[in-house]
Amino acid sequence: MTEQSAREQAVVDQVIASFEHAGDARLAELMRALTRHLHAFLREVRLTEAEWRTAIDFLTEAGRITDAKRQEFILLSDVLGASMQTIAINNEAYANATEATVFGPFFVEGAPEIPLGGDISAAAAGQPCWVEGTVTGTDGHPVPGARIEVWEADGDGLYDVQYDDDRTAARGHLFTDETGGYRFWALTPTPYPIPHDGPVGALLAAAGRSPMRASHLHFKVSAPGLRTLVTHIFVRGDGYLARDAVFGVKDSLVVDFAQHPAGSATPDGRDLAGRDWASARFDIVLAPGRPR
Ligand code: BEZ
Ligand code: FE
Repeated sequence: MTEQSAREQAVVDQVIASFEHAGDARLAELMRALTRHLHAFLREVRLTEAEWRTAIDFLTEAGRITDAKRQEFILLSDVLGASMQTIAINNEAYANATEATVFGPFFVEGAPEIPLGGDISAAAAGQPCWVEGTVTGTDGHPVPGARIEVWEADGDGLYDVQYDDDRTAARGHLFTDETGGYRFWALTPTPYPIPHDGPVGALLAAAGRSPMRASHLHFKVSAPGLRTLVTHIFVRGDGYLARDAVFGVKDSLVVDFAQHPAGSATPDGRDLAGRDWASARFDIVLAPGRPR
């Protein structure tokens, strides 16, 4: 070992040793591993002091822009794939259970309940879209009374919470019927950018990466005795499927959104007043486990 290498390793060893007496064994494990990997990174790239300062400024700006409505650190985790990796680790593949994907920052607790066949759009802009499917266990048994939360951006690519008024639109929850079935009207998903007017957006631009998310509709599905599923459905044929800004796309979550011309019969007989519409089917399979 050269003198230089020995000096660098001595710093790593000192920091690792400093966590020896942590009261919490898991904290000690996390901090020791973090130290090993962080120092390996610093040493591998031979980080300059100017680059270290740039990183500090980046994190300072992320903190400055973060508030109750804007969480720049989650965005950072998302665009680095850290959110999806954590989801993959914590939603272990199980038989034919539906895959999970990123939660995103736009879920709102307490969105309105809509009846089966109701409309979540609350007059938000966009093409009406009928969504239906079932919730079952991995053994195929139907799950009646499963709680399904759904939320999405409107046809202008914005979630209700991104407007300055206090509107609630394009979100809601419903419960499956006695056969595990569900159905509702929503909006055909459209692509939209993740918030990119902060340091994470600047990083994406510098890296030549797009801030766009592939068109999607969010689902959170929970039922007693089953693992809560947080996922989306994506629109087959969408131009951003292969370059979703947060790596959220899974092939198994890409579904057909059929297009129907104005005037064609709707599944529930609803009169759409001369508008065209779309429809999609998403059958959800929940793994056994604990609701979260
Ligand atoms: C979303 O799908 O709502 C989302 C996910 C990650 C970052 C930003 C938005
Ligand atoms: Fe989203």
